[in-house]
Amino acid sequence: MIKTEIIRVNPEAPDEGALAQAAAILRRGGLVAFPTETVYGLGAVIYNRVSVKNIFTVKGRPGDNPLIVHIYREEQIFELARETPAAAMVLARRFWPGPLTMILPKREGIPVEVSAGLPTVAIRLPSHPVARELLRLTDLPVAAPSANLSGRPSPTRGSHVITDLNGKIEMIIDAGPTGVGVESTVLDLTGLRPRILRPGGVTREMLEAVLGAGAVETPEALNDSRPLAPGMKYRHYAPQAPLRLLTGETRVIHTFLQERVDQARQAGKKIGVIGYDEDQGIPSCRTEVTFFSLGRRSNPAEGAERLFHLLRLCDQAGVDEIYAVAPPRTGVGEAVYNRLLKAAGGKVEEIK
Ligand code: TXA
Ligand code: MG
Repeated sequence: MIKTEIIRVNPEAPDEGALAQAAAILRRGGLVAFPTETVYGLGAVIYNRVSVKNIFTVKGRPGDNPLIVHIYREEQIFELARETPAAAMVLARRFWPGPLTMILPKREGIPVEVSAGLPTVAIRLPSHPVARELLRLTDLPVAAPSANLSGRPSPTRGSHVITDLNGKIEMIIDAGPTGVGVESTVLDLTGLRPRILRPGGVTREMLEAVLGAGAVETPEALNDSRPLAPGMKYRHYAPQAPLRLLTGETRVIHTFLQERVDQARQAGKKIGVIGYDEDQGIPSCRTEVTFFSLGRRSNPAEGAERLFHLLRLCDQAGVDEIYAVAPPRTGVGEAVYNRLLKAAGGKVEEIK
């Protein structure tokens, strides 16, 4: 156990003094958890190999899962990447600062711990004012995975980070809820066509609006349990209770859930349902189950913002089983669907 300093900052007007202290910790090799617009990150300066290794230890992260390098100036891309295809620069101009991570061939000099031995590097320029100011004051690239224990839902509130990492790192900067709520889109630019390895805040539709219709490959494997980014092969985002992801007609799903709720009641089990505002109408959802709403089905951004918080609430409520109604796969809904699929162990059940 070490003493973790927890500081609360206003995301709109972050306190310079506090962030200067955080930057000093990073520069001398400490670990700092900080907010980004997607999820909280656990940062270390990339050139400090011992600190980067510490990230893996603290999270319990498998050593073959590379980290994303965070920068604050677009030109830092040249310090990290050996080649920068034209598409990378176009996308950087359009989507940075913001939730897009680009995979490029890495320069020598980036420690193997960061890239987990791969010849590539993941680069992202976040838009959260606290992240930007911290990166500017640190003035060195910062490797940062999500600031959760490996396998747990990513943290979208300071309190989630405190639950997972208090006593393990030097500092936690709490600036409230993160906003986007799902991690950045990971886009591989090292092949013939750009390929989405992890759907996120920058949607395929947004990328294709810039690169042209059909320009972006979205591998089928995103929809099952085969891994693309090394990190996607592990059980992920998982609440403690088993989660089942359901698709089908709303009416049919509601009937199915009603049956499951009745069975669970007889067996003395507690059920959690993750669905949309519209699904709260399932009669016994009002009393017999704990219902967690992803907001309006018509606005996938609401679901993205809430998803990881709800998964943690399921744990707190101590439910025995979780049923999740599959999100519409448009816009950022694709990322929400992808995270729920991982939480469900790669399986989706069509209810008929
Ligand atoms: O929004 C985000 O991206 C957050 C915030 C903190 O920036 N970070 C984040 O990091 O989600 P992490 O480590 O939880 O997820 C990084 C993902 C993993 O699936 C990893 O395997 C993949 O990016 N990745 C990193 N470097 C890669 C590389 N060189 N090639 C392929 N995938 C890579
Ligand atoms: Mg993560």
